[in-house]
Amino acid sequence: MSKINIAIDGPAGAGKSTIAKLLAKELSYTYIDTGAMYRALTYLLIKKDLPLTDENLVLETLRNDYDFSFEGEKIILNGEDITNLIRSNEINANVSTIVAYKKMRELMVEKQRELSNKKGVVMDGRDIGSVVLKDAELKIFLVASLEERARRRFLENKEKGIETTYEEVEENLKKRDYIDTYVSKALVKTKDAIEVDTTNMSIKEVVARIKDLATTRNR
Ligand code: DC
Repeated sequence: MSKINIAIDGPAGAGKSTIAKLLAKELSYTYIDTGAMYRALTYLLIKKDLPLTDENLVLETLRNDYDFSFEGEKIILNGEDITNLIRSNEINANVSTIVAYKKMRELMVEKQRELSNKKGVVMDGRDIGSVVLKDAELKIFLVASLEERARRRFLENKEKGIETTYEEVEENLKKRDYIDTYVSKALVKTKDAIEVDTTNMSIKEVVARIKDLATTRNR
């Protein structure tokens, strides 16, 4: 069967990365986490002690100093394994400062497209179906209620030993929804995207549903 590209968009905490990773594994596709690419740029700027508020400098840093790759499960930037480093509270708190910069996004989108030109990619983010992979054969818009997303994140944090209250997690998700919708305006559901509401679904059910849809698209 020929390979297709699958775009998975949706708000924070809807389960995109968990689902995309499992789906890619089952289909023997490559998983591309575009959020990690914005996180890596944020990490680099902080490491270089550069102001995230200087839009031109952010663009120049991406253009000249950003050598990013996915190596299996690892995320590598300029030869350094930053897989865990980009999930820190500092990155969480700062990444939203840069995500609205238009020219930076355009260059990032070019890099994301390069990673998908051989097909057989499951790419997750906010603007994959609307901008990055407009021609993706399958576009999924993953949603879940705010309460359910907060509940999942809260339990995830607890497992990782990160101390937060449910209320803090919910507040943080609301903030991120606002940024995605009104500041970066990246979160867009296209007309041809299939919405999958995961509020009352198990991970297994969601993966099976999308796999079914993928199978009908690549005949
Ligand atoms: O999905 P995430 O939390 O790793 O994303 C990190 C940040 O990047 C978050 O502010 C949303 C933003 N993002 C984006 O604007 N466009 C994408 N395609 C992916 C992520």
